[in-house]
Amino acid sequence: MNNKIIIANWKMNPASLKEADMLLKRIWLGQDKKLGNLDLVIAPPFIYLEPLLLKAKSLRLKAKFGAQDCFWENQGAYTGEISPLMLKNLGVEYAIVGHSERRGYLKETDEIIAQKIKSVFENKLTPVLCVGETAKQREGGLQKNIVQEQLQRDLKEIVNCKLKIKNLVVAYEPVWAIGTGNYCQPEEALEMIKFIKEILNLNFSQLSGEKNIKVLYGGSVDSKNISNYIKYQDIDGALVGGASIKINEFKKIINEVFKTVKTEPAQK
Ligand code: PGA
Repeated sequence: MNNKIIIANWKMNPASLKEADMLLKRIWLGQDKKLGNLDLVIAPPFIYLEPLLLKAKSLRLKAKFGAQDCFWENQGAYTGEISPLMLKNLGVEYAIVGHSERRGYLKETDEIIAQKIKSVFENKLTPVLCVGETAKQREGGLQKNIVQEQLQRDLKEIVNCKLKIKNLVVAYEPVWAIGTGNYCQPEEALEMIKFIKEILNLNFSQLSGEKNIKVLYGGSVDSKNISNYIKYQDIDGALVGGASIKINEFKKIINEVFKTVKTEPAQK
């Protein structure tokens, strides 16, 4: 089975570094040896990245780190922003871009997202591009159109600049499933993920060939439903929000991933 990847999106949690530290330790200790070819990425708030990276290093944890967002310039007069270059210099490997909470609350447009994606690639971080339709769009049967449009707009800059791409993660996150408990049925998620892979192969020559492209599912993933997604070969893992900051629940998710990956032959 392909390598699976689980990304823990802590969002704007927890409220103190002490708690963040505890979360990292309790999630990781004892898991490290079992990880095998599972990539586990923690995406805490920016201000915890450096201390947690140092902590992980001192405890020799195989933790990988991601940022929840970033700006598109490397340096300069952009008050309040964090650049992909800064993240790279810190040892961060992934950057989530275009999360629906940023598209919604921060009014991030596809233009902005396309610039961020380009800059993340240029700095040799792996972008985790989030796409997905709203409830209304799904009611209208528009999910494939919406996701196709988002991919084409958000990856436009890398096409224009003919950037050579090595690693890309796309997270299919239907907006109606995020934080609601109303998760997308695994078969529907599989259909959308296969569709996303088709679009990427057909439209982005930079992405075809020997590249490492993963497409994940995100939206109310928990320990009870995780194996129903990752048992499919085409679903390369999950982006986990709420459940990733509940220590026992997240540990159960990781155990389910181990069990599924080890014991079940991948389903098509
Ligand atoms: P959720 O969030 O798991 O809490 O639904 C997922 C996400 O927003 O990435």
